[in-house]
Amino acid sequence: MIRTRDLTRTFGAKDKVVQAVKGITLDVEPGEVVAFLGPNGAGKSTTLRMLTTLLNPTSGSAEVAGFDVVKDPAAVRHRIGAIGQGNGAGQNQKVIDEMVGQGRAYGLTKSESKARADELLAGLDLSDLADRVVQTLSGGQRRRLDVALGMVHQPELLFLDEPSTGLDPQNRANLKDLIEKLHAEHGTTVVLTTHYMDEADSLADRVIVIDHGRIIADDSPARLRSGLVGDRLDVTLPDPTDVPRVVAAIERMATPLSVNVAGPTVQARIDGAPQLVPQLMRVLDADRVVVAAAEVARATLDDVFLHLTGRSLREGSGPVDIGRPDGPAGPSSEPSPSPQPSPSTESSQPSARNEYAA
Ligand SMILES: Nc1ncnc2c1ncn2[C@@H]1O[C@H](COP(=O)(O)OP(=O)(O)OP(=O)(O)O)[C@@H](O)[C@H]1O
Ligand SMILES: [Mg+2]
Repeated sequence: MIRTRDLTRTFGAKDKVVQAVKGITLDVEPGEVVAFLGPNGAGKSTTLRMLTTLLNPTSGSAEVAGFDVVKDPAAVRHRIGAIGQGNGAGQNQKVIDEMVGQGRAYGLTKSESKARADELLAGLDLSDLADRVVQTLSGGQRRRLDVALGMVHQPELLFLDEPSTGLDPQNRANLKDLIEKLHAEHGTTVVLTTHYMDEADSLADRVIVIDHGRIIADDSPARLRSGLVGDRLDVTLPDPTDVPRVVAAIERMATPLSVNVAGPTVQARIDGAPQLVPQLMRVLDADRVVVAAAEVARATLDDVFLHLTGRSLREGSGPVDIGRPDGPAGPSSEPSPSPQPSPSTESSQPSARNEYAA
């Protein structure tokens, strides 16, 4: 469904060059749900924009839904849905008109468009807002509308750039349900971006970690967590002299990836820490060790990152590369983000709305 070979994108010119994407080679099979995970500036949106034909690669190639993104962008656009990082919805129309217009722009009949719009608005908890003018929606409501717009024509491949940003927990859950439904009913391939390991975990079956424009890991969420970093277990004791007994108990019961002591707290990295805790508590109790607190945390993006790169996300993983341009293209080579499919209806301008800001 997606095939890229050494895809790169460089911005700027002369001595001010940002190498946003530095050679991404990737195959995504039909029906996969893939998350691009990485910090700010990692190159996630740039990669998505190349795959959705909004930006030309500087070098390398990408085929999406069977077509080359540079040679046949219109064919690609017709087969994909793209929900950008910014708001794409127009401002002055009613929500329902926006939705129906988008469906019409992709060649759906009026009744098909209406039925699809109603279904999606219901799925994203927007039915009550169907007659509201887009401008009056809250940020999260508008974000949901963007997601609905990208799904109207039931694309075989859906790109979502940070779909859950700005959504409350209930609507994150709705979004997850919608993606699962799309996948189950239509086998839709989904590529999304996120900063959150837990989101990647809950939405995707494959996580591609991107840093500084390169893929640094590509695996299932479970394997990224357990194989790489494990869960974190913190046991805090009122009496620090008990620390060695806790360390010994943990090492007897499991094979921790690491054990550190910070004052009265033992910090261990262990696969399956949640299952270990009850047994550990019983053993410590029998050993008359009093525990003040035991905390288990699943691995976060920060943990995965620390393991993969040796530095924390918070240590400022500055994405900017200053160097000579390594390819011929500058911003001037960008295609204008013109409408996606050829509007085959009387609808005037809905097709350009759901694209990334240029
Ligand atoms: N049009 C542009 N001109 C110059 N630099 C750009 C342009 N677009 C992106 N960049 C730079 O390319 C790098 C990658 O940006 P990109 O938007 O792909 O990151 P991202 O992984 O999506 O980050 P975020 O999580 O913040 O959305 C950044 O350093 C960014 O400043
Ligand atoms: Mg981005």
